[in-house]
Amino acid sequence: MLKIGALVSGGGTNLQAIIDNIENGSINAEIVTVVSNKSKAYALERAEKHGIDAVFISKKEAGSQENYEDKLIEHFKSKGAELILMAGFMSILSERFVNAFENRIMNIHPALIPSFCGEGYYGLKVHEEALKKGVKVTGATVHFVTKEADAGPIIIQKAVEVKDDDTAEVLQKRVMEEAEWVIYPEAVRLFAENKLKIENNIVRRIDR
Ligand code: GAR
Repeated sequence: MLKIGALVSGGGTNLQAIIDNIENGSINAEIVTVVSNKSKAYALERAEKHGIDAVFISKKEAGSQENYEDKLIEHFKSKGAELILMAGFMSILSERFVNAFENRIMNIHPALIPSFCGEGYYGLKVHEEALKKGVKVTGATVHFVTKEADAGPIIIQKAVEVKDDDTAEVLQKRVMEEAEWVIYPEAVRLFAENKLKIENNIVRRIDR
């Protein structure tokens, strides 16, 4: 069975969606560890509630980005993680980490990449920028992680309507409900069933 390691920073609703889909039998996988870069992330509590190993690894204590990434790599390898899920992880990892799990790291981004993405675009900020621009459609993207932020091969995208009276908070909630919590579990399911392959930076589904 596929062993998953997760990286989180906050509320962990995407992590919850994956846990729920594993528990209801839709995804054939096991989450072997959840790692947060924030000691108080609610995502850690969510993991513990489901009997999943949950740890805080401090960047400050590691002393440098390199040491921090080495600690993460060592931790995930010691747990036997085969797929790493960034689930609301608000930190950018370098080539060092990416190379250790090549084509085995996924991220969920709350916009239709290549819009509103890259360094500085995370969480609520993404939705604020979408509203500022006046886009009528936004959405979410699940992609494989490469060394360039939010630029790796796209696995699944789902569009969501922007309404005239939306605030960033209202739009964020709609994007989560209608897109993120649907497409992230779906992408993980496809990976667990070996139905994804990458050809020239394009993800192909091999079940259709
Ligand atoms: C989600 O909207 C996720 O797409 C976004 O942060 C939120 C985390 O919520 N991620 C990024 O912006 C990454 N660049 P969650 O902790 O409840 O899953």
